[in-house]
Amino acid sequence: MSTENLPQSPGQPPRKPRVAVVFGGRSSEHGISVVTAGAVLRAIDRTKYDVLPIGITQDGRWALTADEPDRMAIVDRRQPTVEQLTEEGEGGVILPVDPANREVVYSEPGAVPKALGEVDVVLPVLHGPYGEDGTLQGLLELSGVPYVGSGVLASAVGQDKEYMKRVFTSFGLKVGPYVVIRPREWERDQSAARKKIVDFAGDHGWPLFVKPARAGSSIGITKVDSLAGLDDAIEEARRHDPKVIVEAAVRGREIECGVLEFEDGPRASVPAEIPPPDAHAYYDFEAKYIDSTPGVVPAPLTPEETAEVQRLAVEAFEAASCEGLVRADFFLAEDGDFVINEINTMPGFTPISMYPKMWQASGIGYPELVDRLIQAALRRSTGLR
Ligand SMILES: Nc1ncnc2c1ncn2[C@@H]1O[C@H](COP(=O)(O)OP(=O)(O)O)[C@@H](O)[C@H]1O
Ligand SMILES: [Mg+2]
Repeated sequence: MSTENLPQSPGQPPRKPRVAVVFGGRSSEHGISVVTAGAVLRAIDRTKYDVLPIGITQDGRWALTADEPDRMAIVDRRQPTVEQLTEEGEGGVILPVDPANREVVYSEPGAVPKALGEVDVVLPVLHGPYGEDGTLQGLLELSGVPYVGSGVLASAVGQDKEYMKRVFTSFGLKVGPYVVIRPREWERDQSAARKKIVDFAGDHGWPLFVKPARAGSSIGITKVDSLAGLDDAIEEARRHDPKVIVEAAVRGREIECGVLEFEDGPRASVPAEIPPPDAHAYYDFEAKYIDSTPGVVPAPLTPEETAEVQRLAVEAFEAASCEGLVRADFFLAEDGDFVINEINTMPGFTPISMYPKMWQASGIGYPELVDRLIQAALRRSTGLR
């Protein structure tokens, strides 16, 4: 569907596509999502689109929120929340699970539901569980509203560090060594699970990266140097996800590459390098968002290496059946091979984030990026594709 052929009422002037920017959410990346939404709201072309900001609170309520990007920033190291931006009472925004009805309403107990108008496309700028993991995408499929980014399967695969690796491996992409501790394994026999990790360390050496299988923004990840730190690391990971993935450390450089869907298919951006931050043991949450560690764009790679990582990034996009956008993160290992670490189906999208910076360096500025994503979503309809 293009901008020109939106359903119009006879005799009415053509109306602009209405974009619902959905942000916040229940994951630990709530605050970063609000920051991203602020940047998107600032960049979106209001002459071309109508905008409806919908914030999801940390306990999952869909709230009507202020369209005030300036209030959606990190101030004094404190992240913004949807709660601070909520305009109305304790009611919720409802997107009907009815493909024939795109009318969004605001509903409060005891009050007449308030019509908020139709939504033509949803731009979900949510990271992590209940946003980037396929659950929201499932709701949007049921609602019949097109949305920006990957569908249910790709979102779920991109959120789960175990299944992501399994998919990549099956498509011939190289991943680093890992072992998974599933919830039942840990609950039934902790010492057997611990032994599995110790044996893995025996094969691959310390340090190990202990991670929640489905989180993001480095939250819950510990780099463990020896057996002494293992239990604390598992406990910390399990605070975010009962499934834990333990990875051997991949020695090498961290290289990222953006993929964006154009009219003729996905294309890769110039890659970036994330230099090892001095003050942080690895690229952790503080390094990413608080100290805004600068990535080097373009990554200082040979032309062959650049072409290779771009090819692999598009392969990763296709392997997981992604749509719209992806940031593919690699290690350029000491043996010269690119090892894929992960894909992010809704990568950090703030002005200092790597994905927009890589596209900027590839000739596509932030507002154009937002526009291309919305257009890619409007070109698709929901349903199997
Ligand atoms: N196996 C690994 N070897 C070396 N460094 C790693 C490894 N796993 C993670 N890291 C470091 O930790 C950071 C965060 O890990 P990542 O798996 O990307 O988690 P998230 O999904 O939270 O971004 C990476 O950017 C990298 O700096
Ligand atoms: Mg990462």
